[in-house]
Amino acid sequence: MPADTDLRAAYRLCRRMTRGQDPETYALIRLLPAALHEAGWALWAAVSAIDDLIDDRDVAAAERAARAEGWIAALEDDLVSGTSTDPIRLALVDTATRWHVDVSALRDGMLVSLDDAHLRHFDDWAQWRTWSRGHVVPTFDLVRSLLGRAGVPVVFRMDRQMSYERFLDGVRLVETLTDLADDLDEAGLLLPREFVEQFPGAEDDLRHRRWTEAAAALVVELTGIARRWVTQPGLTHGMHPGPATVVKALTDLLLAQLDAVETAGPALLRSAARPSLATRARIFVPARIRSALAWSLTPVTVPSVPRRPTATGPRTTAPLTPGTTTFQRPPGHPSGCRPPQIGPEAMPTHVAIIMDGNGRWAEHRGLPRSEGHRAGVAALHEIVYGALEIGLPHLTLYAFSTENWRRGMAEVTGLMDTLQKELADDPFRDLDVRMRWSGHPEKLPADLVESLRHKEATTRTRTGLTCTLCLNYGGRDEITRAAAALARAAKAGDLDPDFIGEDDVARHLSFPDMPSVDLLWRTGGEQRTSNFLPWHATYAELHFTSGYWPDVDRRDLWRAITEYGNRQRRYGTAGPRSAPATGRGTGAGRQAAGGVINRAQ
Ligand code: IPE
Ligand code: IPE
Ligand code: MG
Repeated sequence: MPADTDLRAAYRLCRRMTRGQDPETYALIRLLPAALHEAGWALWAAVSAIDDLIDDRDVAAAERAARAEGWIAALEDDLVSGTSTDPIRLALVDTATRWHVDVSALRDGMLVSLDDAHLRHFDDWAQWRTWSRGHVVPTFDLVRSLLGRAGVPVVFRMDRQMSYERFLDGVRLVETLTDLADDLDEAGLLLPREFVEQFPGAEDDLRHRRWTEAAAALVVELTGIARRWVTQPGLTHGMHPGPATVVKALTDLLLAQLDAVETAGPALLRSAARPSLATRARIFVPARIRSALAWSLTPVTVPSVPRRPTATGPRTTAPLTPGTTTFQRPPGHPSGCRPPQIGPEAMPTHVAIIMDGNGRWAEHRGLPRSEGHRAGVAALHEIVYGALEIGLPHLTLYAFSTENWRRGMAEVTGLMDTLQKELADDPFRDLDVRMRWSGHPEKLPADLVESLRHKEATTRTRTGLTCTLCLNYGGRDEITRAAAALARAAKAGDLDPDFIGEDDVARHLSFPDMPSVDLLWRTGGEQRTSNFLPWHATYAELHFTSGYWPDVDRRDLWRAITEYGNRQRRYGTAGPRSAPATGRGTGAGRQAAGGVINRAQ
């Protein structure tokens, strides 16, 4: 354990660095509850320490990358030992353990920065966005986690998640514009080619510090885009006034930075464009008053005893290096049964399950319905184990529909408690399972939402089974929100309605990368889909079984998959065919003799 004086000194150093080198972020951190200030400085100092190593122009690129990698590896060791010889890492380790936040996300952001040590090129905005989000999202998500740990979860409605990500794209774009002079020296224009090519000659002019008509037009256009992206008025709807004040102040600051860029004109090529002191005061003085009031109304939970990991004890954070993790094998079935041999052509990519019959299972035993949901958890474990054993890539489970609110209060509360306990028990901790949640935060208990988000964040890099839990999920709701998001994009001029395709719709669903459902299985005897995955299940093979969900085990899954392998999937053709060759819809049933015809679309 580090000495208290060392820790105090470490946090003081982080504070000095933040205040001296980035007064705007320092002012933003002061809008957080006082208990989180140290954590904010530690995060900022850690990100900046890596950036400094990467940007050190006196050192060759390979050496810079090696130093940054060394720093990240040392952080990994420090997180295990619970202490560090480096003051910034010491503060970060203390923050991670005290607040029990997973800093592996921060590390991912650092690795993206590390790649920036090499020259970057983006063909289009999609590539740029992937890079930008790798940079910005982890840091913002960490701040959200910290607020969650302090008892103020910052959750977005599903349709606002897009606005959030677009807002963060805006953050990155404003940074690009503000620091244009620096970046031109180092990495060139960090913008997509499809955009830059609209301004012939501009890139060359900017690189040679010539403020020509083309260069000015590029900057004006980019400023306009950034202004649109950072203006997301719905983002703070329904948010606690504390974080809402931070988001509002950040938005005002970004817009002021864009004003400064516009005013700077050619000066932008020589130094960073920053808002004046007076402008910053106009933003932060009222924001501080508002935030002080907001936090005075909400008691912030400060963890009383710092939890420190020890070299021998369990880790409190996910391992930092995904590739090096060894996962355990799922426990075998008590009967000793082994999974069937299923060839790749008969293996579904995506199995979705309506876990039905819990209530009736309990009623038949004279138990309250909520006991049925509790019993259903064991079946859920079984199915995840069975899916891992058979090598299924995607499993999606329907746990609670948007219509299930119509049930009695005791049942709903019991079910939510069961799920919260399940997340706390973390039964898949040591298995290669990436957990995701599809559904709507509205009406769900805030701590459950926080746990779901946390689970998503901490298992993000796992590559075995992707298990998506549909909780407070409605298929029509999902599609309606996608339609609203498309309408918003069209209204903002980002999308031409005449060119909206199926992929555009899919992009706006909860998980754009979710493949089509190959096999949809419902237990409990009913033969309907009850608002489950209407977009993804249009060509699913349906499988209905009469047993109640709590009585199910992995052998039922294997049976369902074996039967699926005997189906013929036609996709509208006259004879047996393979799945369409477009991205979603990758799983195929057994091919009939006569070969595979890939129908390119
Ligand atoms: C499925 O079981 C779980 C949920 C809907 C939450 P049910 O609770 O619907 O069980 P039955 O259909 O009433 O037996
Ligand atoms: C669907 O089951 C939802 C889940 C299994 C979570 P329901 O039992 O609620 O469906 P209906 O109402 O019988 O169609
Ligand atoms: Mg039911």
